[in-house]
Amino acid sequence: MIRNTIVALAGLALLAGCGEKQPEMASVRDLMKNEVQPTAEIYWGSAGAVSDENGITDLTPTTEEGWQKARDAATKLGELGKKMMEPEYSKDRGEAWIRLSQGLIDVSKVAEKAAADKNPDKVFEVGGTIYDVCTACHQAYPQSEAPPAEGEGAAAAG
Ligand code: HEC
Repeated sequence: MIRNTIVALAGLALLAGCGEKQPEMASVRDLMKNEVQPTAEIYWGSAGAVSDENGITDLTPTTEEGWQKARDAATKLGELGKKMMEPEYSKDRGEAWIRLSQGLIDVSKVAEKAAADKNPDKVFEVGGTIYDVCTACHQAYPQSEAPPAEGEGAAAAG
């Protein structure tokens, strides 16, 4: 009985310690998970087609609101690119981070225009370019599953 309690608490401590170790990485991750990914998905969901058991569904917006949603998503991606340049996210990541964030801002402008023009081919094409920008940064800055470089977690927190 007592033994079980101790084991459970040890587990909690481990989890807490894990979270504390990488405060900065966690904030980029949260931004990605809660804002960047869902926003990009709205844009990606506004072009091309999906095929499932119901057949093929064309994703091209059919309403004014649908196009506006794609346009808003593009605008928001640009804002998120700007946000990623702020010290909170860019600190200690070097010049490449700024360049890659700028890439997101640049592509978001093209994406916004494609949606404003209601050009399905262009929205599809730019969607691919957005994906390339995401991938380029993820290759340069891998996920934080790998242990942080020596002492960096503590140093970067201050
Ligand atoms: C300037 C760099 C940069 C750009 C551009 C970027 N990401 Fe990320 N992304 C990261 C980093 C760094 C991580 C890893 C964060 C971590 O694990 O701490 C990440 C992680 C993620 C994750 C995983 C989050 C999780 O739950 O662990 C998703 C999803 C993601 N990015 C989506 C995107 C999408 C979609 C785009 C493009 C629209 C994009 N990212 C563009 C840097 C970037």
